[in-house]
Amino acid sequence: MNLVVLTGAGISAESGLATFRAADGLWADQAIEDVCTPDAFARDPNGVCQFYDERKSLAARARPNAAHRALAALEQHWREHSYGDFLLVTQNVDDLHERAGSKNLIHMHGRLNSAFCMECGFQMVRHGPLEDSRECPICQLEALRPDIVFFGEAPRGLPQIQAALKTCHLFVAAGTSGTVFPAAGFAQEAGSQGAKRLLLNLERPEFAEHFSAMRLGPASQIVPEWVSEIVGSATSVFRSDGQ
Ligand code: APR
Repeated sequence: MNLVVLTGAGISAESGLATFRAADGLWADQAIEDVCTPDAFARDPNGVCQFYDERKSLAARARPNAAHRALAALEQHWREHSYGDFLLVTQNVDDLHERAGSKNLIHMHGRLNSAFCMECGFQMVRHGPLEDSRECPICQLEALRPDIVFFGEAPRGLPQIQAALKTCHLFVAAGTSGTVFPAAGFAQEAGSQGAKRLLLNLERPEFAEHFSAMRLGPASQIVPEWVSEIVGSATSVFRSDGQ
């Protein structure tokens, strides 16, 4: 049984990190056009770096919650028992999934702890701030930028994600409003080849209509509950098949 799990900002909310579209969310305070487009960066690179530097330091002080840990445990269980493929796709740029132990993970919107050079393409881990220190260590040009996918840029890992959606039996989305494509279309893609689709979210978002099942509640509660159920059912199914 092949699984694809998609997460959004809601899975990190109980770790203290702001979501985007809540009344007190990131986009309530800061316009997307000012911090999350190529034009914004060209206009005010240090202002954009400051926005991501602040989010980077908040994420460094945050801790993975029970939802992050449950998904990491599910992946490990899936791998140890060879139940099938497991892919975690996150829209989040924090590193809480990695710190919880997730391995087969795609950050389709980039990562706070990474930077790349716009001149020579060099990509590097960068835990410290980028503002006022954007010199590339390779070409020495002042050309480093946050490794974040800005609006209008291509998300990361799409060929691998699309391939996994084609062969998955179950697609699960957790903590996302399904506002931004292509992630918002993954449920339909998975459903078009017969996959079941489960939505785990605090409230019913618009794109809930594309799911065959939905559970509402805080991720730190409903994600571990679901994980323990699917591990239990997989164990019983595979055990009865003698695997
Ligand atoms: N548990 C579960 N779900 C939650 C919780 C929680 N504790 N708190 C909030 N949510 C849900 C909200 O109900 C909402 O549906 O998480 C979702 C967060 O939605 P958004 O703020 O729109 O975040 P996200 O879906 O990740 O945004 C997608 O938009 O601006 C871009 O790049 C940005 O990756 C982001 C993308």
